[in-house]
Amino acid sequence: MKKWLLLLVSSILFIGLLSACGTGGKEQGKESSGEQEKVLKMGTSADYAPFEYIDTAKGNEVIGFDVDLAKMITKELGYKFEIVDMDFTGLIPALQSGKVDFVLAGMTPTEDRKKNVDFSDVYYVARNMIVSKKGSGIKTVEDLKGKTVGVQTGSIQEGEANKIAKTVSMKIESRNRIPDLIQEIQAGRFDAAIIEDTVAKGYLKNSSGKLEGHTIPTSEQEAGSAIAFPKGSKLRDEFNKVLQEKMKNGEVDKLIKKWFDQQ
Ligand code: ARG
Repeated sequence: MKKWLLLLVSSILFIGLLSACGTGGKEQGKESSGEQEKVLKMGTSADYAPFEYIDTAKGNEVIGFDVDLAKMITKELGYKFEIVDMDFTGLIPALQSGKVDFVLAGMTPTEDRKKNVDFSDVYYVARNMIVSKKGSGIKTVEDLKGKTVGVQTGSIQEGEANKIAKTVSMKIESRNRIPDLIQEIQAGRFDAAIIEDTVAKGYLKNSSGKLEGHTIPTSEQEAGSAIAFPKGSKLRDEFNKVLQEKMKNGEVDKLIKKWFDQQ
């Protein structure tokens, strides 16, 4: 009787051992054969609807045009990716320190930035807009004279404001996140803010007529968006190849319609 019990227990243990070996072996096989997709880290600043934002009504996932574009490209190349959300000013340092593998954040490939990171081709071009309270009378760059003007820290809009300030005397204030700029206008602390038009339009729409916006002339190259990579990253050419394909076959256009035309 006792012997029989011992046999039962030991065979159960043995089966357990076998199955443990089984799964272990399988996992190992997958890794060594390179079957498991590599996970890339994508840096972004999710304060920039419709490029990248969190729709708190729907959850805490980062969504938007850039996220869909990243999905499209990485899927084609056989990578998985995960999003690392941070302030816009942290993105280039994150690429340089290897904390992220690429950045999609509506980032413009400026000459200055090109000294520190590599960029893909431009995938979208926008313009800048002056946003202010309805009835402010601010319509053009000249109207900013004597005003307090908000911009996102480290953005090309900050650079643009500095340029304007050389001829039109105004006070420039910067904030890390775009929603803060809007809040400061609504609170009357800023007279206006300079924001990319595609992003500004969303705020205008949601302001129930309390804000107005006027596009200002910007040279095309100045407000384009491109994907950023650490200097010398092999990913740049891989991504560019797929990006070119998808821009030619209309798939990028479909995403542009999905995210920008619904506004
Ligand atoms: N295109 C502008 C720039 O490169 C602003 C981008 C801001 N992006 C963001 N996710 N907040 O400076």
